Amino acid sequence: MEINAQAVAAAYSQQYGSAPVVLAAAPGRINLIGEHIDYNHGWVMPASIDQCIWVAAGPAPDDQLHIWSVGHQQLFSAPISHPLQPHGWQWPNYVLGVLQQLQRHGHVLQGVQLCLGGNVPVGAGVSSSAALECAALTALNELWQLGLPPLSIVQLAQAAENQFVGVNCGIMDQYASVFGKKDHCLLLDCDALTHTYLPLPPPDYQLLLLDTQVKHSLAGSAYNDRRAACEQGIAVLQQLFPAEVRTFREVTQAQLAAARPHLPPEVWQRCSYVVAEMQRVQAAVAALQQGQWAQFGQLLYHTHQGLSQVYEVSCPELDQLVATCHSLPAVLGARMMGGGFGGCVLALVQAAYAASVYAAVAPSYQAAFGRAPVYLPVQTGPGAHIVLHRGHGASLH
Ligand code: GLA
Repeated sequence: MEINAQAVAAAYSQQYGSAPVVLAAAPGRINLIGEHIDYNHGWVMPASIDQCIWVAAGPAPDDQLHIWSVGHQQLFSAPISHPLQPHGWQWPNYVLGVLQQLQRHGHVLQGVQLCLGGNVPVGAGVSSSAALECAALTALNELWQLGLPPLSIVQLAQAAENQFVGVNCGIMDQYASVFGKKDHCLLLDCDALTHTYLPLPPPDYQLLLLDTQVKHSLAGSAYNDRRAACEQGIAVLQQLFPAEVRTFREVTQAQLAAARPHLPPEVWQRCSYVVAEMQRVQAAVAALQQGQWAQFGQLLYHTHQGLSQVYEVSCPELDQLVATCHSLPAVLGARMMGGGFGGCVLALVQAAYAASVYAAVAPSYQAAFGRAPVYLPVQTGPGAHIVLHRGHGASLH
């Protein structure tokens, strides 16, 4: 069964015996360039995709929290007033995390029943978790009339992931899920927490995802390690250059070189990736604004090289797909996308050859890893929104 807004609303009605009061949607995201620099005060270039998580919500007849997952066909129930604890099932934790954040910000939780489902691929690096957190918060904000502005939804969703789920992620995924706009990418300033919209490549070009179908179990801890290394590095750079350096944005190549003897080699290596990626994003903005797609594609390859060899968050499956893409003239650029250690390769290809690119990369991948990558053409879509609020005249049809 295809999961869409109607299916989630219908599953709510079937599970709880009444129609939902609110139905909210929040999308997954891609990221064109600017990887692993959102938590380093950098600029990143994500876009919201047209695959969403939907959360249907209504008041519960008791003071319990009930969550039905359409995808897992599981019901989670817990008393809402007790301290919320992480659960052995992973999926409820994203909702429990946002409820805990609401509690911490002084909101009194009431009994609530939720139903969630979506078509964002899980584990593919397109942020199904951020989509779930943002959809749950958007639904609860509407149901309980909390009056949270969009940026607060972003920040609460990120805090839920950091504090409850335990991944010390940056703000990019949740920001893109809330502020994304169809046919555009964001140029998100992760220091100021502001954004502008940039157009995506014209129809002659297509962005596509090649999903390795790999998710390494160490991804979460390795992510936290990378972030810790960057924090160690910037602290030393700030000490060495107190007047000039506040964040990685201000760090020049000369300062990086001067800091080398003061840093463990691995930490210095991570810092050098961050500084280079900051500069690549600036070059990418210029290329995008001038329509220099070949140049933009080259930057994607350079980012992959940095993520794989310098930041060391790639894996053999991702490297092989990017290497094959590099050999194909129809591919302008390709790189691993997201946190790493699995998930997708993002490729910018000539639209007319999109299907033939997949046909060209699949056999060697199959031969090396015993399975085919999954091909996902990317369409962008709107950011988080209310699909239905009964009583506000909205309707699903
Ligand atoms: C994950 C995190 C983001 C970001 C990317 C890497 O998706 O959730 O905050 O750090 O990895 O760019």
